[in-house]
Amino acid sequence: MLLRGIISSPLPSSLTPRLKVTNHPRNVAVSAQISSGTTAAFSVSDEALQSRGFILRRTIGDLNLDHLNSVFVAVGFPKRDTDKIRVALENTESLLWVESQKTQKPVAFARATGDGVFNAIIWDVVVDPSFQGIGLGKAVMERLIDELLQKGIRNIALYSEPRVLGFYRPLGFVADPDGIRGMVYSRKPKKKK
Ligand SMILES: CC(C)(COP(=O)(O)OP(=O)(O)OC[C@H]1O[C@@H](n2cnc3c(N)ncnc32)[C@H](O)[C@@H]1OP(=O)(O)O)[C@@H](O)C(=O)NCCC(=O)NCCS
Repeated sequence: MLLRGIISSPLPSSLTPRLKVTNHPRNVAVSAQISSGTTAAFSVSDEALQSRGFILRRTIGDLNLDHLNSVFVAVGFPKRDTDKIRVALENTESLLWVESQKTQKPVAFARATGDGVFNAIIWDVVVDPSFQGIGLGKAVMERLIDELLQKGIRNIALYSEPRVLGFYRPLGFVADPDGIRGMVYSRKPKKKK
């Protein structure tokens, strides 16, 4: 989910290894403290994806940010400044995207920011509408989560539109565990005089 003004704080140790959730007027924020670092088998292999014409990428070297921005806009995210997207991606902990071999354009994307050790938040999970429903979102998320776990990061959070909760649950995310709520900063910035 795309949100502005999110503040995250470390989980109290009493919650380990429990789950944390944040509610927002339009979004449900879910985080998972995962006790095992074992790598799960992916639902589809890199090779199987490639045989279907999709290449998994983990760097932004070949990523056309205007094309990525178009995918964001196509799924309803606001259009953002491409230069700012570049800065955001340069400050991203882990990212994954899927390139269509045919068009060389991005068709799926997800990224996580974090402190590199304890916490990560997943953002900008998108699949081009023409390519939704064929397993690309799941393929990207599985690998992103696995990469974070491999780094030892256990507290993984995300903000979910209510209509997408069913996509995230089978991936290991839970909303409202023990009724725990997070909070987001909501004051509008004062206009400069
Ligand atoms: C949500 C989104 C990333 C899912 O990607 P996708 O490639 O279409 O999903 P997949 O084909 O990988 O689906 C994986 C599984 O999740 C299920 N699923 C997908 N979208 C779902 C939804 N909105 N609600 C419930 N389940 C969903 C699929 O049925 C599939 O189930 P299966 O593994 O039992 O077959 C994609 O639809 C999207 O980009 N939506 C618009 C942007 C958005 O809402 N992003 C999330 C912001 S919080």
